[in-house]
Amino acid sequence: MQKRVSPASAISGSLTLPGDKAISHRYAMIAAIAEGPTRIHNYSTGGDCRSTLGCVRALGIAVEGAGTELVIHGRGLDGLHEPAGDLDAGNSGSTIRMLSGILAGQPFRTRIIGDESLTGRPMQRIMAPLGQMGANIRARAGKFPPLEIHGAPLQPIHYDLPVPSAQVKTCVLFAGLFAEGETSVTEPMRSRDHTEIALREFGADLSFAATPGHVSGRKITVTGRPHLTGREVVVPSDLSSAAFFLVAALLVPGSQLSIRGVGLNPTRSALLDFLAGMGAKIRIPDLESINGELVGEILVEYSPLRGGTIDGGLTAALIDEIPVLAVLGGATRDGITVRDASELRIKETDRIRTIVDNLRRMGVEAEELPDGMVVPGRQKFRAAQFDSFGDHRIAMAFAVAALRGDGESIIEGAEAASVSFPGFWDTLARIAEEPL
Ligand code: S3P
Repeated sequence: MQKRVSPASAISGSLTLPGDKAISHRYAMIAAIAEGPTRIHNYSTGGDCRSTLGCVRALGIAVEGAGTELVIHGRGLDGLHEPAGDLDAGNSGSTIRMLSGILAGQPFRTRIIGDESLTGRPMQRIMAPLGQMGANIRARAGKFPPLEIHGAPLQPIHYDLPVPSAQVKTCVLFAGLFAEGETSVTEPMRSRDHTEIALREFGADLSFAATPGHVSGRKITVTGRPHLTGREVVVPSDLSSAAFFLVAALLVPGSQLSIRGVGLNPTRSALLDFLAGMGAKIRIPDLESINGELVGEILVEYSPLRGGTIDGGLTAALIDEIPVLAVLGGATRDGITVRDASELRIKETDRIRTIVDNLRRMGVEAEELPDGMVVPGRQKFRAAQFDSFGDHRIAMAFAVAALRGDGESIIEGAEAASVSFPGFWDTLARIAEEPL
């Protein structure tokens, strides 16, 4: 599918966005192994979270409702059934990696498949700790999906995460729920902590300790065999989806936008600090805590930006926002440099390559580095024919770039956006004012 995007004279309006993808996955998975019904409001409408629901259903869990309002009838830690066929994670790395932690503790075998992109993404990062806990996992060529998971009684372990990955952390903590005793994970730097917050909400026993030697990381310990109880939860709007519109407003002079009910968990909101540090006028007039997650309204106004560097721990904290920040880089005064981001090469696409390729299509100079890129500032955005390469965040990042083009741009493979945000194109059309 092709989408045409014209330059905008301003971005304006007031938005609420779909539920957070990361939190939706976690609520659905935890609800499935909690006892009794969990009512979820504002569940993500993206294809990835639908994949998670499909897997949960295939494991014998009743899911009532469609769209954003769901009731999941959890059957407790021992309530999952052996699925009749393969579980399909679609395009979703979160589904396959996090759910594997739960499947590793089941007294049955499961096979998880995915689409072409997922089938090329590395799984050793979860196979290693789950293997140490006692599960037997086979993978194509020893490391790629499909995964065949032979569940087993699991042993608790202590695991030092070699990469700062919230998916791997979650996988080990989920497996720890099925092991007798205490399972702990040490992360080299703080990654998103939605799993820790959600597990506590559902009644698990978790503790946290500082980790000398790791500046921002911590050790998280979960006690096995908890009694998890179904409950009512509200998913905040997805800050990673909001990022596209925040950047759109910062790219187009005269813009003013409000986004309500956004998840502002500090392990996700480095984006706002980074933008504000470059000179962005961003305000958060109110903040509240819902199910342990911070939620608030974001007000953003067009602002000329200085530019900046994303490296070290900041790269991990901004990993999903880098495609749209790279676009923004070309319009800043000093440009944006991204380092320590080799993880980007194994996302839904090799994002370093797909970002640089698309930037060049619109005449924006960019240097590709092994672990990042340099996008110099003060560049002119020309209208172009972009390709999503089947990657949702690439489709949306370059739709935003097109708003500052010098004519109408085309985004090929625009349907990819629906993996995290099916309403993206309508929302963009609603807030982008056409020039008179
Ligand atoms: C996610 C964690 C990140 C992120 C992905 C979602 C999560 O991946 O890129 O979109 O929900 O935990 P890693 O944990 O592999 O860095």
